[in-house]
Amino acid sequence: MKAIVTGASSGIGKEIAKILSEKGYYIILVARRKELLDALIPKLKNGGEVFVADLSKENACKDLYEAYKDADIDVLVNNAGFGVHGKFSETDLERDLSMLKTNVLGLHTLTKLFLPDMLKRNKGYILNVASLAAFMSGPLMSAYYASKAYVLRLSRGISKEIKGSGVKISVLCPGPVDTEFNKVAGVKFALKPLSAKKVAHIAVKRMFKGKFLTLPGITAKFSALFSKILPDCILSECSYLIQKKKVKKNSKF
Ligand SMILES: NC(=O)c1ccc[n+]([C@@H]2O[C@H](COP(=O)([O-])OP(=O)(O)OC[C@H]3O[C@@H](n4cnc5c(N)ncnc54)[C@H](OP(=O)(O)O)[C@@H]3O)[C@@H](O)[C@H]2O)c1
Repeated sequence: MKAIVTGASSGIGKEIAKILSEKGYYIILVARRKELLDALIPKLKNGGEVFVADLSKENACKDLYEAYKDADIDVLVNNAGFGVHGKFSETDLERDLSMLKTNVLGLHTLTKLFLPDMLKRNKGYILNVASLAAFMSGPLMSAYYASKAYVLRLSRGISKEIKGSGVKISVLCPGPVDTEFNKVAGVKFALKPLSAKKVAHIAVKRMFKGKFLTLPGITAKFSALFSKILPDCILSECSYLIQKKKVKKNSKF
C-alpha cells in the first residue's frame, strides 16, 4: 500500500504521514524542505521516500504524477498549503499568487491527475485539506479563506461525481492547529489551537470511514454550524475580529 502526502515536512502533513505509516503504508513525502523530509524517513514504520517539489509550480505537480502514475497510489493527501495575512490591498501580489497556486492549483492538478487512475482501479482515498476558513469570508486573510472555499466546493462536487465507486474523497476543515502555519503567515494564535497529531488522527480515521467532511474539535463543529445559520455579513465581522486579534501589537491593522 502506498500513500502520497504533500506538505509532509511539518505540521498536519507530517503527522498524517506517520499515522499512515503505522497503518502499513509506504509513504511518498512531498514538500520543498528536503532535510526535514529526509529526517522523517527513519521515523516511518513502513518506510518511504522523499520527493522534493514546489507545488506552486504546475510542472512540479505533473512531475510528481509522472514519477508515481504506475505506482498504484492508494491514498493521496493534498495537505500542502499556507496563508497570507494582511489587507488585500497591501499584501504582496507574488506571495498571494504563490499561495493560490499551492492551495488551489496544486491541489486541483494532483487531484485531477491521480483520481482517474484510482477510478480505473476502483479504489483509493483522497484527503484534501481545506480549513474552517472554507465556510466564510475572511477579512485580513481574504485570499486564503477564498482558496479554502475552492478546496471544499471542488471536493464536494467530485464526491458526488464518484459516488458509488470504490474511491472516496474527504475534506479536512480544521480551526486553529499548532503547526508552523502562523509563523509562515506572520501572525499569532487568537484561539486555543488543537495539536497537529490529534487533528491528523481524526482526519485519517474519518477518511478511511469514507466520511466526506471532518471538522476536528468543538470550535470547528460550532463554527461550521454557525456558518449555516448566521448571515454572511455577521460571519465576516466575526472572522475579521479573529484575524485582527492575530496581528502583532505593532501592526497597523
Ligand atoms: N494550522 C492551522 O491552524 C490550519 C488550520 C486550517 C487549515 N490548515 C491547513 O493545513 C495544511 C497544513 O498546514 P499546517 O498547519 O500543517 O502548516 P505548516 O506546519 O506550515 O505545514 C505546511 C506544509 O505545506 C508545505 N508547503 C507549503 N508551500 C508549499 C509548496 N509551495 N510546495 C510544497 N509544499 C509546500 C510545507 O512544506 P515546505 O515549506 O517544506 O515546502 C509544509 O510541509 C495547509 O493546507 C493549511 O492551510 C492549517
